[in-house]
Amino acid sequence: MGANCLFTVGFGQLLLVVTYLSTIDTKILQENKNLGTGNTGKAIYIPGDIIIGGLFPVHQKGFSGEYTGKGVCGDINIDRGVQRSEAMIFTIKEINKDNSILPGVDLGVKVLDTCARGTYALEQSLEFIRASFTTLDASDFRCEDGSFARLNTTHETVAGVIGGAYSEVSKQVANLLRLFKLPQISYASTSAALSDKNRYEYFARTVPPDNFQAKAMVDIVLKFNWTYVSTVASEGNYGQSGIEEFKVKAGEKNICIAEEIKILSNSNPSTFDIAIEKLIKKENANIVVLFLRVEDAKNLLAAATRQNLRDRFVWIAADGWGAQEIPVENNEEAAKGALTIDLQSTTLTKFDDYFMSLTPDKNSINPWFTEYWESVHGCKFVDSYLGDSDNSNITLCTGREKISRKNFKQESKVQFVYDAVQAMARAIDRMQRDICPDRVGPVP
Ligand SMILES: *[C@@H]1O[C@H](CO)[C@@H](O)[C@H](O)[C@H]1NC(C)=O
Ligand SMILES: *[C@@H]1O[C@H](CO)[C@@H](O)[C@H](O)[C@H]1NC(C)=O
Ligand SMILES: *[C@@H]1O[C@H](CO)[C@@H](O)[C@H](O)[C@H]1NC(C)=O
Repeated sequence: MGANCLFTVGFGQLLLVVTYLSTIDTKILQENKNLGTGNTGKAIYIPGDIIIGGLFPVHQKGFSGEYTGKGVCGDINIDRGVQRSEAMIFTIKEINKDNSILPGVDLGVKVLDTCARGTYALEQSLEFIRASFTTLDASDFRCEDGSFARLNTTHETVAGVIGGAYSEVSKQVANLLRLFKLPQISYASTSAALSDKNRYEYFARTVPPDNFQAKAMVDIVLKFNWTYVSTVASEGNYGQSGIEEFKVKAGEKNICIAEEIKILSNSNPSTFDIAIEKLIKKENANIVVLFLRVEDAKNLLAAATRQNLRDRFVWIAADGWGAQEIPVENNEEAAKGALTIDLQSTTLTKFDDYFMSLTPDKNSINPWFTEYWESVHGCKFVDSYLGDSDNSNITLCTGREKISRKNFKQESKVQFVYDAVQAMARAIDRMQRDICPDRVGPVP
């Protein structure tokens, strides 16, 4: 019983820092044609009294197609993968130094790569629950010499899991973890479906669900007394469920929809020209609500630029566009006056200092860090240099390259990783105080 009081974290005890207005992480990853070199068995492991699991898209999805084992993982994801996994380590180290949270208890970490793919993440997550299978009653087993069998397992139970990033990954993993009553806190999955507590009762997140954005957009429209709007949405879960939510909420407030346009995923520039023409035809509809992935938002604005549109439409856009410059670049006139929504997040200056001081020498704990280094500095370490048949034009890394503001910018979800790890640690802390009030340090 003693040990159990540390290992199952009740869902109700999670402290959640919910920030208004959300983002989505389902932007199409660039499919790449490289066969991944394989990622099997790599993990960040830091031993501790209590282990917290982590799932990050350290690599992008490999080439499209069926899940076949080889080529599942693509190129390294320097921001969304490596930075975020370092953010988890950073937070754990900070908590271990902080005597007010879990005094005397060392938190450990086991971070695995999801390769941005649900099926692969599920396979990796088996690692988290393996220990649950080996907590058998060993006295049932006898060795050949008649002695009782003793368990020898190297698998450690995790108290909970931080992740995943893509909603698709989080859903798959949640279905597995719930069977073992393992709490899961995502730092980036914003699909509204994950709010269903009947299906995902052990799932929590530090980012708000997408339907909050739809509500905010309706609030904006109401604030300006606008009553007649058009909508453009990307095909897929993000755009379609977002715009559906908007339409329902707008309907309740007597806002009428002039034109509804769906951008299919196989769109080309003329798709957007046609969309703009349709919008122009509705003469009295000047307000256009956008639930678009960033590349669709860019293409739509480019089409508006081709038509030389100025001050014709007021765009109200979800976070697919958000605070990014990509859609606005070269389309400044057409974009002028847009109101876009983004997730409110804070840059953690202390994380910048931590991250910029990392070097491959000092960071052997992260098996993906050399790959990160090579990618950021455009060089190769000896091992991968020799492994590359065509290496005549490749520079060797010295390890003395620097991470600076020139090649590093804090990724926007770092704060939410920090929040998720803090929430998990504080929940465990609260639980220990509730169940073992007089104890300091781990239960033997
Ligand atoms: C337990 O397993 C580990 C690795 O699998 C092995 O190194 C160790 O010797 C084993 N211990 C016993 C008592 O068999
Ligand atoms: C909207 O309408 C209300 C009531 O007619 C008015 O008081 C308010 O100033 C209007 N707001 C804007 C932004 O025009
Ligand atoms: C190496 O780079 C030079 C100059 O950029 C180029 O002309 C040459 O073709 C490259 N060689 C290989 C093998 O890629």
